Amino acid sequence: MPDNDYFEIQGGVPLRGSVTISGSKNAALPILCACVLAEDKCRIDNLPYIEDIQRILEILSQLGAGITDLGGGSIEIDPTTIDRYVVTAEMASRLRASYYMLGALLGRYGTAEINQPGGCAIGQRPMDFHIKGMRALGAEVVERGALISAKADRLIGADIYFDIASVGATINIMFAACRAEGRTVINNAAREPHVVDVANFLNTMGANIRGAGTDIIRIQGREHLHGCNYAVIPDQIEAGTYMIAAAATRGDVILNNVIPTHLESLSAKLIECGVEVITGDNGNDFYMEVRTDKRPEGVTIKTMPYPGFPTDLQQPMTSMLTTANGTSVITENLFESRFNHVAELNRMGADINIYGRNANINGVEKIYGTDVKTTDLRAGAAMIIAALMAEGTTRIHNLHYIDRGYERIEEKLRALGANIKRVSEE
Ligand code: UD1
Repeated sequence: MPDNDYFEIQGGVPLRGSVTISGSKNAALPILCACVLAEDKCRIDNLPYIEDIQRILEILSQLGAGITDLGGGSIEIDPTTIDRYVVTAEMASRLRASYYMLGALLGRYGTAEINQPGGCAIGQRPMDFHIKGMRALGAEVVERGALISAKADRLIGADIYFDIASVGATINIMFAACRAEGRTVINNAAREPHVVDVANFLNTMGANIRGAGTDIIRIQGREHLHGCNYAVIPDQIEAGTYMIAAAATRGDVILNNVIPTHLESLSAKLIECGVEVITGDNGNDFYMEVRTDKRPEGVTIKTMPYPGFPTDLQQPMTSMLTTANGTSVITENLFESRFNHVAELNRMGADINIYGRNANINGVEKIYGTDVKTTDLRAGAAMIIAALMAEGTTRIHNLHYIDRGYERIEEKLRALGANIKRVSEE
């Protein structure tokens, strides 16, 4: 996608209709990396067609893996031809999830060299827990600037404790530990739905992982892991983005292919704002419906690891609350610079003040379209929601951030009645 594309959105249309949620980005990325651990082919279904998936497939291909696109969101990975164990700086800079190759390559081949990953600039995103965990398993890890090299003749299970529950470190350690000798225990493990999905995938490959979804994960190492077929869970953050967009435009949207329990913290907050959230079962699948015809009430939100309110939905929620009744306070506990969207929202007429990790949002009657730019993936989602709410036309620049994580977003929004088009500038 050329970087000078922009979205042009005429705001003020309530979203109405139904939308099907794609596979989870943050589950799909580590699952594709975990295919390295298998000794034969894996077929992964329900993958979202987004830039980050293309990038991780490019990394797998550079390592020597065979990749066959089976169509319809299914990909077959053949890890048997892998003969390189290095993720180059160029590849690593393109997405954060490239760090999963550290645990996957180390677990399978006893050697891995990666560069500190790129990804969204939302604060310091160190890898010290990943490195500490690999060392605890017996790996020799050397850091030279951005380069991290890990080697181990044998990995041996260990007890590992994280100071903060980290999604990336929990998954990376699971990768290495499921090929280590003996038992590993991860204490204060992340409990996110994508951690559980990755553990389920590894178990389908023959791993022995218990406790994923709680804060203690136990892994009994295995000598061999085999190929398998696996379908990725629906994307909780994409679903949450459409739920917030529905409420923010005073619309009525049905979401298909969702797991309502993954969205409980958001549903609770929307209900507190006065929005109706209905969950149901249509016989085959769960669905959710979000509707309102009123201004939302102001609320207090603190981002927390799962099952708390997800940091990834904080930015879209800020947009919705710009026109809430009264004042809202958002506290961002995970990433210190995750307020890059606020200046742009203020340019649209919002009244938001930042104090350290807090944003005070004084609800205004209306926000207005203008030219804005997005600085990271979820800020992009926030800009789209604000544009859908605004009076007049908004042009959103830097679309490459949005394309990294949202599948066919303009098509899905147009089907809900939004007036959005992608404009390509020569
Ligand atoms: C992942 C997600 C991201 C999401 C975040 C929180 C991917 C590719 N990215 O990011 O979309 O916003 O989880 O749900 O799945 N930390 C350390 N040292 C470490 C690792 C983490 O101090 O070694 C800190 C981080 O700075 C942060 C907190 O732990 O404050 C949680 O980070 P983590 O869960 O690891 O987030 P990411 O894996 O970067």
